[in-house]
Amino acid sequence: MPRRSLILGCGGYLPARIVTNAELASRVDTSDEWIVERSGIHQRHIAADHEKTSDLALAAAQAALAHAGIEVSAVDAVLVATATPDHTFPATAARVQAGLGMTRGFAFDLQAVCSGFLYALTMADSLIRSGQIRTAVVIGAETFSRILDWSERSTCVLFGDGAGAVVLGATEGEGTIADRGILSTHLHSDGRYHDLLYVDGGPSSAPTVGHLRMEGREVFRHAVVNLAQVGHEALTTHGLSAADLDWIVPHQANRRIIEGTARKLGVSLDRVVITVGEHANTSAASVPLALSQAVHDGRIQPGQLVLLEAMGGGFTWGSALVRI
Ligand code: UT7
Repeated sequence: MPRRSLILGCGGYLPARIVTNAELASRVDTSDEWIVERSGIHQRHIAADHEKTSDLALAAAQAALAHAGIEVSAVDAVLVATATPDHTFPATAARVQAGLGMTRGFAFDLQAVCSGFLYALTMADSLIRSGQIRTAVVIGAETFSRILDWSERSTCVLFGDGAGAVVLGATEGEGTIADRGILSTHLHSDGRYHDLLYVDGGPSSAPTVGHLRMEGREVFRHAVVNLAQVGHEALTTHGLSAADLDWIVPHQANRRIIEGTARKLGVSLDRVVITVGEHANTSAASVPLALSQAVHDGRIQPGQLVLLEAMGGGFTWGSALVRI
């Protein structure tokens, strides 16, 4: 009987402060109309000065553990996907581990920018299926507000802060697509596209943390193609078609990217979870935040087939096919 990783619970955390498009328009040369038309974003949450990525991650992890009904003592591993760690080292995940009161197991960060949660989910699923661990907390958490150039209107209007988490637990499946849990994951990267989306700082290249730089139009073009490709890959691996999907939970970068990808995949928008309007792009946090919202509001039900997908700097992109 093949081992599967089941999503036992999920949770999210958004900082209290909401910044509207109108507020941004009072600081840079932009407008609510432009931001909504080009991206679908109406507002974003921004972390308070004292809130670090680990604080957001810890709150999301605690919410996911409460939803799963799992005690911290049962957790074997904490994985945090983030491009905005508290410190260069140690890992933000180690802070979260301590915050949870967890003194056994292990914790580590991984970095694939907006695809980070898909990468972390893949690693945790591999650890569970290989028998090394039974239970993992997988978190995407970001404070992108700290790496934005707030004078650069083409980027500062697009991002927000937040965290989302899932608790994964080992279960025995039949080895069919009727199994609950992660059915497969698919990861890609292509480092030739480094310069289209990057941060111009970091410990070995500059004396500063740096700011996010992006060729938005180019990233947009690649995003729709890559996301549709990795969505098709997930379906064809199992001999499925778009009609078999109950939901897509995509990375929330831009409503037009989400719509374009859904169109290419042949999935109608009423089966796509869209939170970009309220959350903006929260990078690695966006997929688990959207998943958590749709599970907690009752849209996504146990037994349903869900496609998760994301694309980000690197470029990196990936998908996961999950029966909830
Ligand atoms: O998570 C993955 C990472 N990110 C993404 O996936 C983002 C991908 N890209 C996008 O979402 C879109 O390309 C953007 C939302 C960034 C831009 O939309 P666009 O339709 O591609 O616009 P554009 O870059 O072609 O810019 C159109 C115009 C430009 O003016 P000109 O050169 O045509 O005169 C910009 O200077 O809009 C101008 N512009 C703005 N105007 C008002 C750029 N930013 C703003 C702004 N407000 N905030």
